[in-house]
Amino acid sequence: MNRKTAAFYNYFSFLYPIVDVFLKPQKTILFKEVNAMPNGKLLEIGVGNGVHFKHYKKHEITGIDTSATMLKIARKNRFGNVSLLEMSGEAIQFSDEEFDYIVLSHVIAVVDNPQLLLTEAYRVLKPGGQIFILNHFTTDNWLRYVDHSLRQIAKLLHFKSIFRIEDIPAIEKFELRKQINLGVASYFKLLIYQKP
Ligand SMILES: C[S@@+](CC[C@H](N)C(=O)[O-])C[C@H]1O[C@@H](n2cnc3c(N)ncnc32)[C@H](O)[C@@H]1O
Repeated sequence: MNRKTAAFYNYFSFLYPIVDVFLKPQKTILFKEVNAMPNGKLLEIGVGNGVHFKHYKKHEITGIDTSATMLKIARKNRFGNVSLLEMSGEAIQFSDEEFDYIVLSHVIAVVDNPQLLLTEAYRVLKPGGQIFILNHFTTDNWLRYVDHSLRQIAKLLHFKSIFRIEDIPAIEKFELRKQINLGVASYFKLLIYQKP
């Protein structure tokens, strides 16, 4: 866990609803996919301010985040069957094979160590369980130049602008079940993987 990232999100939390306006269309797709699954135990890592809760129509939800301020807001947005904990996705304090689903929405390029995040996610996911990864991914088209030019500002904003899922070895343990391309030139993607 990166304390500077947690501190950044503590300060930034009041502005996050503005960012979320732009993410709404792609998140609608995420919720549709998650709600189409049979009822189960869902872990959302980097749960943020909890705006997602009202969109989950089923499942027993556990949300974890490293930002105490984000979690404070999430507690106010708590809706239905939700529990919240201050915990890093890079050191998950749950037993092996505890969850049916994991949601990583705009968090995989924020954490310090995405390899550790996916290793931990794999550990706590049940065999046959699914992980939903919503994020920007550096493309092979012209948009990659935007990612390269944003590198420095992205550092200040605590995310990796250059981010490719295939660069994380732990992803190879999962099987890709579905890919939904989103946004201009497929800059955003919803990737749904299954633990064999
Ligand atoms: C860009 S926000 C995304 C919030 C929410 N998932 C969404 O889609 O709106 C990233 C969130 O990840 C959290 N975060 C950063 N590093 C983390 C870690 N190692 N473990 C858990 N949460 C983390 C931040 O505090 C922040 O709330």
